[in-house]
Amino acid sequence: MKKWNVASVRAAKGVQKLGCLTAYDACFARLADESGVPIILVGDSMGMTMLGYDTTLPVKMEEVLSATAAVARVVKNAMVVADLPFGSYQCGDDIAMKNAVDCIKAGADAVKLEGGARVANLIKRMTDAGIPVLAHVGMTPQSVNEYGGFKKQGKTAAAAHQILVDAEKVEASGAFAVTLECIPSELATEITEKLSVPTIGIGAGANCDAQWLVMHDLLGLNESAPSFVKRYANLADEVRRAFSAYVEEVATGKFPL
Ligand code: KIV
Repeated sequence: MKKWNVASVRAAKGVQKLGCLTAYDACFARLADESGVPIILVGDSMGMTMLGYDTTLPVKMEEVLSATAAVARVVKNAMVVADLPFGSYQCGDDIAMKNAVDCIKAGADAVKLEGGARVANLIKRMTDAGIPVLAHVGMTPQSVNEYGGFKKQGKTAAAAHQILVDAEKVEASGAFAVTLECIPSELATEITEKLSVPTIGIGAGANCDAQWLVMHDLLGLNESAPSFVKRYANLADEVRRAFSAYVEEVATGKFPL
């Protein structure tokens, strides 16, 4: 199987719907890759799934770089996308460029950043420098303090129009795909029809070209998950069962034999 790249992801639009996932370590990235996941995002959602924070805001560049390197070391076929964390592209475009370059040097095939019109020039600069960019509009979790919580966006006509304009701007700036997070399904459908690059939805309905799920949500490792999530396994219960069986067997002398 050939490794997924910008060209094959773009060519999948209208041909093949892609089920894309996050992963933050070599163990799960290998399993996702072996299972045919086409795009693995080393998401800043690691702040909430792996690091115990309530939001993605505290995630540091070094944490994304270290996780990206671990994922890239083992992945053979998936495209690896490193998520630029909050603060890594808001303090000047030169700093943002340096951080994006570091992601590629760590093994990422592309970077993702949040925002529409306000990051359009930065996306152009990155793509001009040969760094593929996956854009992210709609509910952008790094703006959680602006929203007052992780709330669905684009609910009024004006807000929906702004998200459409944002999606068109990031496409025009060179983004090879656009994440649409937590927006009404009808709006995601309209954007998907209007853009020539693929949309990757999360909580944005069934008509996007591709879908994201956060791996811990899909596997049932998180205690709670957003309502749009489908759990394909309940690993939390399975892991608890194994851990307590081990503790019990050591206590009772059944292990080691
Ligand atoms: O960090 C993340 O997990 C994301 C989602 C789009 C999957 O940005």
